[in-house]
Amino acid sequence: MKILILCGGTSSEKEVSIWSAENVYKSLINTEYIVEMVDIATLSPYELCQKILCENFDLVFPVLHGKPGEDGSIQGFLDTLGIKYIGSGVFSCAITMDKYRYKLICKSLEFPQPDFIAIRTKDSTEVLEFVRLKGFPLVVKPNSQGSSVGVSIVNNNNELKDALELGFKYDPIVLVEEFIHGKEITCGVIGNSNVIALPLVEILPKTKFFDYESKYNPQLCDEIVPARLNDNLKDRLQELAIKAYKAFDCKCFGRVDMFVDKYENIYLSEINTIPGLTANSLFTKEVKAAGYSFQEIVKLLVKLALE
Ligand code: DAL
Ligand code: MG
Repeated sequence: MKILILCGGTSSEKEVSIWSAENVYKSLINTEYIVEMVDIATLSPYELCQKILCENFDLVFPVLHGKPGEDGSIQGFLDTLGIKYIGSGVFSCAITMDKYRYKLICKSLEFPQPDFIAIRTKDSTEVLEFVRLKGFPLVVKPNSQGSSVGVSIVNNNNELKDALELGFKYDPIVLVEEFIHGKEITCGVIGNSNVIALPLVEILPKTKFFDYESKYNPQLCDEIVPARLNDNLKDRLQELAIKAYKAFDCKCFGRVDMFVDKYENIYLSEINTIPGLTANSLFTKEVKAAGYSFQEIVKLLVKLALE
């Protein structure tokens, strides 16, 4: 079987995507699969199409983070070509990459989540009202970025103003979200109809929050796996992760980010349909904590994609 790994592209997370793809590539060489890796920024859509079809690839693994790639666009392209791929389909990728619409669906499904507003201008009066209701700190994030690109935690009106300006550089919609005091927890999920949750990771950034730097510099963040939580809380978090994964019709794998406050209330944050797969990534650590090698899991993903 010939597998093509797609990586890179033009997203703000393109470097991370290349690190992830290299890790996946390493796990698949010298196996029963023939594997190749290509940076999509180096090919036109026509050349990509030609490569996949003329070189007879059986399966594609889009190891793409952010837009385009994790947003359903590549998935739609592959669907049109009739090529199977690893990971979630168009709908799941598109909706989870659009934080605002994703949150609206979470709200309608009554998933617990931090309160939020979505704004289209930095002078919105809605923000003033939200600040009045929630107070500081608040989280400001562009609607559709990953790896915390463009995200700020703000403690006063001046910081809020700067954060909104930064957010609007990345997206015409910016979310202002309640800050949850407590722990950031993440849960890898694997499967199609039978879904399992991996051990939880507790994220302890040494920076102000789990920003781009602390995500990719191991010195700047402690990631404790399995998370130091009581069994009941662990069960509730894993249940919520699986419920959210299923609700958004995710396939093969994903990573669900959540928060827990000191009263043990849990909150759903994001679903990553193509979570980081670098050697230092949360998902990779969870796989190891579950007692699997990274290669075993990548091979499982291949099987799940062909189901
Ligand atoms: N967006 C990054 C790659 C992650 O969620 O792991
Ligand atoms: Mg993310």
